[in-house]
Amino acid sequence: MTNTLILLFHPAYERSRANRALSEAAAGQPGVTIVDMQALYPDGAIDTDAEVARLIAADRIVLQFPVQWYSTPPLLKGWQDAVLTRMFYVAYESEGRLIEGRPLMIAASAGNVPEAYTPAGQNRFPLRELLRPLEATAYRCGLVWQEPFLIYAAHKADAEALQVAGEHYARRLAGMGSQAVRRSEPAPSDA
Ligand SMILES: Cc1cc2nc3c(=O)[nH]c(=O)nc-3n(C[C@H](O)[C@H](O)[C@H](O)COP(=O)(O)O)c2cc1C
Repeated sequence: MTNTLILLFHPAYERSRANRALSEAAAGQPGVTIVDMQALYPDGAIDTDAEVARLIAADRIVLQFPVQWYSTPPLLKGWQDAVLTRMFYVAYESEGRLIEGRPLMIAASAGNVPEAYTPAGQNRFPLRELLRPLEATAYRCGLVWQEPFLIYAAHKADAEALQVAGEHYARRLAGMGSQAVRRSEPAPSDA
């Protein structure tokens, strides 16, 4: 069975509603493993041996997180610095090369509404554009960029909206890898 690894980076998962709803929906899917990275590494000291092995064992990789200041939570940047640097700059032949060609999907929740992520809106740029550094990272590492899974107004979403988001997420996970996108294309939800 294809195994899908979701690395969840949430600085305060105990207070999460959106990412919790997504994780719970994903957890019911066949072949899906979710790793709560903040719980595993509360002090930020990442076990790179374990995390490199985890990536090599995964067929598909998902990075799930709440958007914070138009970017990722700090532990995700720490994971890139520790794990991807080792795999792609230090041990490319024995490690990085082994995960090339695998699909990578971002699953991110944003507090603000879609209209805020427009030229006239509060945040000026589409969220997809703000995720470009992750897309560049995927490209650099030979991972196959997937259309990001994004939810907006996350902290205002009611239980029904979160359930719908969870179902949508589960479907995206199931279909992951079937649409390989190397460059971002405008999506209907991001005006
Ligand atoms: C420090 C911090 C920074 C945030 N920055 C943003 C932001 O740049 N854009 C945005 O839309 N929401 C922002 N938010 C809101 C979170 O993205 C939102 O609360 C989260 O996605 C909700 O998911 P959860 O229920 O899983 O915590 C921020 C929240 C915090 C705590």
